[in-house]
Amino acid sequence: LVKRAFSSTSCRHTIKNVTVIGGGLMGSGIAQIAAQSGNQVTLVEVNPELLKKAETSIVTNLSRVAKKVYKDDTAAIQKYVEEAKSRIQGSTNPSTAVSDADLVVEAIVENLEVKHKLFKALDEAAPAKTLFASNTSSLSIGEIASVVNRKDRFGGLHFFNPVPVMKLLEIVKIPEQSEETYQAFLAWGKSVGKTCVTCKDTPGFIVNRLLVPYLAEAIRMLERGDASPRDIDTAMKLGAGHPMGPVELADYVGHDTTNSILEGWHKKYPDNPLFVPCDSTKELVRQKKLGVKTGEGYYKYNNLKYWLEN
Ligand code: NAI
Repeated sequence: LVKRAFSSTSCRHTIKNVTVIGGGLMGSGIAQIAAQSGNQVTLVEVNPELLKKAETSIVTNLSRVAKKVYKDDTAAIQKYVEEAKSRIQGSTNPSTAVSDADLVVEAIVENLEVKHKLFKALDEAAPAKTLFASNTSSLSIGEIASVVNRKDRFGGLHFFNPVPVMKLLEIVKIPEQSEETYQAFLAWGKSVGKTCVTCKDTPGFIVNRLLVPYLAEAIRMLERGDASPRDIDTAMKLGAGHPMGPVELADYVGHDTTNSILEGWHKKYPDNPLFVPCDSTKELVRQKKLGVKTGEGYYKYNNLKYWLEN
């Protein structure tokens, strides 16, 4: 009896149909892993060109995954890619795209107003069974959820870049979130191959709350002239066992990203000294020296291979 009751509960919340809104860096990765794991996926973009771009990037990545598994077996590679690809359909209409969704994962631009407009429309269009999640890095899940009626079926599903490679998924709770919703998020996160951690709706969740102020502290250290960028990086690699130093990591993440996260938090929590944006980073952003992706940040990068791949 217990087994039957359990299975009927889990049936009610089984996530099979997933709609991913936004097919950029994160959304295309989320759509890919969902399709790889057997979900039926609808991917939504603002126009057919961006949809095509997302689909091309997904197929390239699926081929990479398949080649690792099947080596030189081209027939098996093709079959794997075709099967996963056939589970993804594209759409430019968010409202129709959620008509049979068990879960919606939003991965559009990091702008509260734009997210509000989207979720308001989705809340009206989606059936009652549909769970909503945002992949936001720096906005409050509660604030994003404020425009929907289904707050019990809302949460954060925060993936890391690149989604198919990074093992972690942060599941963010809001006070209204039901236990059933949380359990469904957890089961789905595991089913797409992620290790899940849970936290409250706190700025930066777990990883970015610790990482972003740490990177900023390292930059403040070099701004004060306490140590050189190289010495700060070497110190943290050899002294703390980190695979990358904080200055090179900040270059890798991108100064536009970390600076806008800090600016958002600083505006909201002006008294927290850990959230104060760094002057030298602001200057780099002004000069469009965003780090590895533009070839220069605190360090210079002239790795031709990197440029060719990106
Ligand atoms: P991105 O700029 O690569 O992709 C966003 C995509 O959303 C664009 O292709 C855009 O055309 C599309 N879009 C915008 N408005 C839309 C709408 N109303 N309907 C459908 N599509 C729409 O951005 P990225 O990096 O993928 O970030 C997306 C979200 O994921 C943001 O909330 C960000 O904070 C979060 N995130 C980003 C991470 C990163 O490392 N880039 C890591 C974890 C979370």
